[in-house]
Amino acid sequence: MHQPVLCEEILSLFEGCQLQAFVDGTLGAGGHAALILAAHPEIERFYALDRDQTALALAKENLSASLPKITFIHTPYADMSQYVSDCNGILLDIGVSSMQLDQPDRGFSFYKEGPLDMRMDQTARVDAKFVVNTYNEKRLGEIFRDYGEERRWRAAAQQICTARKKEPIETTQQLVKVLTPVIGWSRKHLHPATRIFQALRMEVNQELQQLEQGLAEAVKCLAVGGRLAVITFHSLEDRIVKHFFKQEKSVKILTKKPITAGVGEQRKNPRSRSAKLRCVEKCHVD
Ligand SMILES: C[S@@+](CC[C@H](N)C(=O)[O-])C[C@H]1O[C@@H](n2cnc3c(N)ncnc32)[C@H](O)[C@@H]1O
Repeated sequence: MHQPVLCEEILSLFEGCQLQAFVDGTLGAGGHAALILAAHPEIERFYALDRDQTALALAKENLSASLPKITFIHTPYADMSQYVSDCNGILLDIGVSSMQLDQPDRGFSFYKEGPLDMRMDQTARVDAKFVVNTYNEKRLGEIFRDYGEERRWRAAAQQICTARKKEPIETTQQLVKVLTPVIGWSRKHLHPATRIFQALRMEVNQELQQLEQGLAEAVKCLAVGGRLAVITFHSLEDRIVKHFFKQEKSVKILTKKPITAGVGEQRKNPRSRSAKLRCVEKCHVD
């Protein structure tokens, strides 16, 4: 089961707030949602969004005690204003869940054989197989360079384009096999496919575009005095959040520096090591 990160820190950011309406834009298994619902009995409407229908179904089971308050919505959080307005709190916990990573048939993991999929929303049109087998070499290289920060982006793109001429690359392990000779193990002991898989996942799910659009949507959906908390796991994402908060006139920044996990949490949950939490409060309508 997915272990939510920075739980105490999230709760303290919303402490003392009257949260009549709350949005969890990245519900996952509902770990953060359960904590917030328990700490804020005043919540009347809780909007639970995820683009993954499997996550929504699982969260529905996990949150059974609070079902009357919750509206589950299968949608990208960047479209939240179609469903909600005047919220007192919004949480975005960006990225993939452990459930998605651990299920071989979702195709996110380079350790497990599975179809080259990586769609968070299983109804989406574009999957990783499509990207890997149809994008031209230049575009693939740019994705590996910009989203994966892979040093050997050019060689990786070239290798894929050569390999797919012989046969389509359809599974995770086929792709790992293609990449290993050109990338190899890094000094940080990163698996050779780490950055390429990350880049493909970000492209398939348009994660940075979602974040840019979603932050603006979230601010639009907040009532004055409402708070938006965002957890990211990647420096590219944190940079987007930091920059957006700085230039957005209608909000006040509550976290000058990002909040990170303490040593205890990092030891218990290695995923928390890269987590960064930032929060703003809406002070007026622009
Ligand atoms: C890190 S997990 C969230 C875990 C959750 N906070 C918990 O405590 O269980 C991220 C979730 O956000 C969803 N997600 C990622 N990007 C999304 C987007 N743009 N719109 C909606 N859901 C998204 C993923 O499908 C995944 O279920």
